[in-house]
Amino acid sequence: MRLSRYSLLFMLMLPCLDAWAEPAKLADVIIPDAPDALKRGAQTAVGTCMGCHDLKYITYHDLLALGFTKQEVDEMRAEHPLGAALISQTPPEASLAAYGKIPPDLSLMAKARDDGPHYIYTLLTSFYQDSTGNTDNRLFPSIKMPDILGAGAANDPAARHELQTNAAEVAAFLNWAADPHANERRHLGYYVIGYLIVLTGLLYLLKRRIWRRLAPPPTKLASSKADL
Ligand code: HEC
Repeated sequence: MRLSRYSLLFMLMLPCLDAWAEPAKLADVIIPDAPDALKRGAQTAVGTCMGCHDLKYITYHDLLALGFTKQEVDEMRAEHPLGAALISQTPPEASLAAYGKIPPDLSLMAKARDDGPHYIYTLLTSFYQDSTGNTDNRLFPSIKMPDILGAGAANDPAARHELQTNAAEVAAFLNWAADPHANERRHLGYYVIGYLIVLTGLLYLLKRRIWRRLAPPPTKLASSKADL
């Protein structure tokens, strides 16, 4: 009996063990959500990350929703149609030959990793140069991706700040890309709640009107009681 009680306690504590085993390694930064930051993040993603990665679930047309003008999107897409997906300039075979791996699609990366936006931020800022001058990554040791934002060389405070801003904005954009309609849904939610409040008020008034007609006047009720 006693044993089973302890084993039950142990089982209840098992989920906590998982949390102990994995100390939080991700940087605790604020991922911006201002429209300008998202736009700059998109520019870095299209201009830099897309050198190797696809964002196959996002089209150039989707970028208009971020506040880019048609002309800005036209410059980004060059000869690609407006409805085309964001596909890397480098074919997968070429990446495979160069890095030994095909760079993963980034459109859902912010959802694919735990705490995705912070994961992406930490990954991009964790490149460093070891004593022999080789570049490695603290979050993802021996990663095949090069130090694309130059974190290993960003040693003075100004360069570090620029790197962190860049990384946070790309992470913010990839977070948007993983669910581009999240904002529309949130707005729709407000309308639905407003509609339900108005509907509740109207139904309440209707209910009062109907019951006023149904309930007999109190005097009549008294007299009918006396009749009984
Ligand atoms: C020069 C090519 C190249 C560029 C440019 C590049 N990457 Fe990568 N990236 C790779 C490769 C290769 C991998 C696969 C690494 C591995 O699995 O070892 C990768 C993997 C990743 C991963 C997945 C890591 C994981 O946990 O599996 C993320 C996230 C990522 N890149 C983000 C970015 C972002 C954001 C940018 C732009 C700022 C970018 N990459 C630019 C080549 C590149």
